[in-house]
Amino acid sequence: MDIKSNNNKELKFPDGFLWGTSMSAYQVEGGNMNDWSEWEKSPKRLKELMKKGKFSDDFICGRACDFYSRYESDLDLAKSLNTNTIRLSIEWSRIEPQKENYNVTELNHYKEILWTAKANGLATVVTLWHWTNPRWFRDEGGWKNKKAVEYYTKYVDLIVNELGGDIDYWVTLNEPTLHIVNGYLTGKWPPNKISLIGAYKTYRYLIKAHKNGYKKIHSHFPEAQVSIAMITNYVAPAHKWNLLEVVISKIFHYYTNALFLNKIRKYLDFIGCDYYFHDRIVWYPPFKLNRNKKVTDMGWEIYPKGIYHVLKFLAGYKKPIFILENGLADEHDSQRAYFITNHLKYVHQAMSEGVKVIGYLHWSLIDNFEWSHGWSPKFGLFAVNRETMERTPRPSAGVYAEICKNKKINVK
Ligand code: BGC
Repeated sequence: MDIKSNNNKELKFPDGFLWGTSMSAYQVEGGNMNDWSEWEKSPKRLKELMKKGKFSDDFICGRACDFYSRYESDLDLAKSLNTNTIRLSIEWSRIEPQKENYNVTELNHYKEILWTAKANGLATVVTLWHWTNPRWFRDEGGWKNKKAVEYYTKYVDLIVNELGGDIDYWVTLNEPTLHIVNGYLTGKWPPNKISLIGAYKTYRYLIKAHKNGYKKIHSHFPEAQVSIAMITNYVAPAHKWNLLEVVISKIFHYYTNALFLNKIRKYLDFIGCDYYFHDRIVWYPPFKLNRNKKVTDMGWEIYPKGIYHVLKFLAGYKKPIFILENGLADEHDSQRAYFITNHLKYVHQAMSEGVKVIGYLHWSLIDNFEWSHGWSPKFGLFAVNRETMERTPRPSAGVYAEICKNKKINVK
């Protein structure tokens, strides 16, 4: 592999490495009507926000960043970063707003987006499901309904037929485990119903959905590159000498990082890795003790070396690894350049030890709607003024653009 380092710690990445940014439809497009858009305006949710003294408009996605009509100029921004790849998602509820009633205009809209990306020299990484569901699908029980798999497979079939030729990397599901945990175990996200049975069924059907989606895509495109985006944070005991913490962190790691991947390992052409932070496990509730020095605006510990450990773990699946998300909320952009450079340093270290990493996508191109945290976290290389919708590059955008151009980082 063409990776060279010299004494000045200039770390080079190989030619052909995929450099890019990542986003999802609901978080940027605006005007989507799905289970999430209804949930965020539900009396229960509004009451909950009021109790916490929060202003509900800050938690409603609404027009989002108007990527829907601004995709051309946003893809220009991606190009201005010297990236060669973009990850975006297709909003199922736009394509199939009513059951088996497909919207051709919306399909054409996504076709235009993919063509524009290609015209800008960007390879396309397309997520088919990034947590949001059509309302009819929710009304039939969402992912805990046995029929969910059949419905999803039909949707995948449509996308394969209509848009498949313009998709370079396929992501069938985004971070399915978070949908299960937050939807059914903590109840923080829709469907907001705590149910162990619901969680178990959702887990089973999401696995099946991925397998069916994988087969469907491969039946049309035998050479297709298909995976999921798996959230894989670094889990470690807070105290290495504490046996109990070692055991708890192993269990936690298994359930959060490994189990879902193990179930679908024969149906993966690459491993889609999303890495954000470090979980230091203690033996007493709430089992996490992050005595952080460096944290993001959301309080997540910045721990670049964690990505190295995660990549070493994922290498065990013996597939190429594609980092599909890595980023931070940092409104004042005081840490983003450090964050990117230092995560890449550890990606490079893993690669120099033989781990096959094919690309790095930063989350995110522009500020966007951060789910239940609403609008305050700012993840964008470009800031978005939501009144005027104006995009402004943060200084770290320049740093990332240089990295992507030179395919190297300089570290001390
Ligand atoms: C999700 C994104 C989200 C990001 C930051 C990822 O887990 O895929 O949708 O915005 O994390 O929280």
